Amino acid sequence: GLFNVHPDVENLKSKIKPRKGVILGAGQVGMACAYSILIQDCFDELILQDIAAEKVEGEVMDLLHGVPFISPTRIKAGTVADVGKDADVVIVTAGSSQKEGETRLDLLHRNVKIFRGLIGDIAKHCPNAILLIVANPVDIMTYVSLKLSGFPSSRVFGSGTILDTARFRALLSHRLDIDPRSVHAYIIGEHGDSEVPVWSKANVAGMKICDGDWEGSPACNIAELNDIFEQVKNAAYEIIKRKGYTSYAIGLAVTDIVKAILRNQNRIMTVSTYVDGMYGLPEICISLPSIVNREGVMKVMNFSLAENEEKLLQKSAQTLREYIDKLEL
Ligand code: LAC
Repeated sequence: GLFNVHPDVENLKSKIKPRKGVILGAGQVGMACAYSILIQDCFDELILQDIAAEKVEGEVMDLLHGVPFISPTRIKAGTVADVGKDADVVIVTAGSSQKEGETRLDLLHRNVKIFRGLIGDIAKHCPNAILLIVANPVDIMTYVSLKLSGFPSSRVFGSGTILDTARFRALLSHRLDIDPRSVHAYIIGEHGDSEVPVWSKANVAGMKICDGDWEGSPACNIAELNDIFEQVKNAAYEIIKRKGYTSYAIGLAVTDIVKAILRNQNRIMTVSTYVDGMYGLPEICISLPSIVNREGVMKVMNFSLAENEEKLLQKSAQTLREYIDKLEL
């Protein structure tokens, strides 16, 4: 048996709250997020929610059997209305995913319908949560979630172009033979075909990649730089053509965002953030370098863009706004 150290041990309630996360959607992306979040020891409790009850039970059983190999996390199948109640972070991957030949925007009406059923529940049962949207088209799904949840805009944001920025840095790192952590380059705008490479700010140790006159720099070889950007922009299509979906990199990207929230890191990440007037943009959610911490996204970097980059960002924003205007929110 156990000895009670204090006579009233049953009624003592600690103020320390376990870090609780919910992942909605136990598909390829949701499970990649779950696995990466688990092995990087993010939450004390992780709840997986999916309409396919048996599937999500099987995923939880499989993950639970791996816990002895990693830091302990309580993993459960359930919903935001029961075991997921009062979660700190709710990650929404639920929805249709891109098939070969589809753009992310093609998923819009299917996923808005799914969100109309999900977001209200999250707002009711996790009223103080940060809502991290991953489902595509992520910029519009983030905007829809913001409107349906009624949450403050700082607590609703999307994975946006964080993965595109990572792809950009990975490819530039390979071309320059420099560690990707030392390559500073951003993709902003829509997480999709109208995304924008910020070449004017891409640098290594403060030296601009585009006009670098240093050993190994592409030195403004426009064709080569454009080829790198095209590979970034089309990466998901190329992967989907080969394996049918993307998962591992988005799972790792989402985990990076979760760590920035839970550890209050003030990380600058190109997440899909609510803007209304910044850079002269219309009211939408779009990816700009944003400061991510335990409040969610409170600030967006106001960095000067080259004229052509500003025009491309406006065009990207217009693409998103046209889709949003067609929704009856
Ligand atoms: C991709 C998906 C997450 O870009 O949109 O891989």
